[in-house]
Amino acid sequence: MTEPYRPRLHFTPRRNWINDPNGLVWFGGEYHLFYQYNPFGDLWGHMSWGHAVSTDLVSWTELGVALPETDEAMIFSGSVVCDHANLSGFGKGDAPPLVAIYTAHHPTTPQRQSQCLAFSQDRGRTWTPYAQNPVLDLGLAHFRDPKVFWHAPSRALIMVVALSEANQVAFFASDDLKSWRALSTFGPAGCDGNLWECPDLFWVSAGDEAGGGTWLLKVDVFEGGVAGGSSAQLFTGHFDGESFLPDRDPQGKVKWSFCDYGPDFYAAVSFSNLPAADPRPLWLGWMANHRDAPLHPTTPWRGAMTYPRRMQARSGPSGWSIAQAFDPPLGPICTEKAMLARQVNGGATQVLARCSPGKPVWARVQFARPRQTVTFHLAWSTGARLSFGFDGASGLAFVDVSEMGQEAYRQPNAQSRWTMAVEANALDEIDLEVLLDAASFELLAAEGVGALTLSLFPQGDCLSLSVEAKGDLTLRGEMGQI
Ligand code: FRU
Repeated sequence: MTEPYRPRLHFTPRRNWINDPNGLVWFGGEYHLFYQYNPFGDLWGHMSWGHAVSTDLVSWTELGVALPETDEAMIFSGSVVCDHANLSGFGKGDAPPLVAIYTAHHPTTPQRQSQCLAFSQDRGRTWTPYAQNPVLDLGLAHFRDPKVFWHAPSRALIMVVALSEANQVAFFASDDLKSWRALSTFGPAGCDGNLWECPDLFWVSAGDEAGGGTWLLKVDVFEGGVAGGSSAQLFTGHFDGESFLPDRDPQGKVKWSFCDYGPDFYAAVSFSNLPAADPRPLWLGWMANHRDAPLHPTTPWRGAMTYPRRMQARSGPSGWSIAQAFDPPLGPICTEKAMLARQVNGGATQVLARCSPGKPVWARVQFARPRQTVTFHLAWSTGARLSFGFDGASGLAFVDVSEMGQEAYRQPNAQSRWTMAVEANALDEIDLEVLLDAASFELLAAEGVGALTLSLFPQGDCLSLSVEAKGDLTLRGEMGQI
């Protein structure tokens, strides 16, 4: 069976619906990806945790259902820790247990959500729910998506979890994962959106010898984010083991930004227990959102994860920003690669490269910050065109799918063009990196300080990459296929 929308480099399940990545953990030489999964159909429902593993983050082996829904509850999002010191007592023998901390969603009247545990003693292959679940129940209808990590300075396990309707996250601490004490809350803050979900909190290093860096608190907002839809908000600041103290601007307002300016980067979560050789935070998200995903025309599955991204903190005059880099980097894994050094004449459209049909396309380009617009086009055999580029007048990078006939795959009146502010680098150049993989497009700008992700469903073959500039342009870069 040919599956034209099946990506090559992004995780998709063989069949059925997926949403959030859950319980990302590196353990036993494998990256484990658990995810919100409906074992019975290609729409949201019967939420359970599916499980896949990879050694390279690019090819995944799907293992099946790890945590099935029960008669009482669905298994909503959460995290996994590797309990090295067997604080939970779930371990036996020498190998540390993996412990999943997830939300049990009781679709009762009134609805109820509480935090529960399950453990695995066999590298995540089989799981046993803790007999005394739940471990944290505030009697709330919306209380979900616990992310747990070991906080060395306070020698405690910390949980960050969403108080969704209050637009808050709450922090709890534990010594054994079973009993939790309340520490503090953070929010409302950031954009004017509603319903906070899927928080994550971790340290992002600047990679300098002085050990600089920042804490990053990410929390998704279900509606009211980028283009009014679902988005991930990012706060930098300090976590002292009790509270998150956000960075503020000179007027005292809490600083924030979006992690991604496209419509389809949601519920991202970072891997825990990364190898000591490279502990830099690494995450991936669900490449969709709840409103549009049911319209995606893929079959027999529905849903994909984003390409993994590695994070680094950058300090600048206005504070910290976070750079995301595709990881593993795409240049080195391209099989067909071409340099893109070109002199582009203003006004004309110039083909940069022909594409081999059916293969992911990767490109990275740099050019002097233009006064006007520089537009790159990916062109399909059907005449559809995706445009991305940079508008010098506004300082905005953009992705535009209005010439792609994508209306059926988004809610009525949805945007077909998305933008984000992008700064030039020290050489006064604009840097854009893109990955097209069947049904997805990801743009990283300014070495990943800006990201813009969307799913898309073109028909036919992608044939070429070209550039169109209003003024003359010196372009350098690389392009490849995988
Ligand atoms: C985010 C989310 C989570 C919830 C899960 C249910 O996409 O709504 O808050 O745990 O999906 O599938």
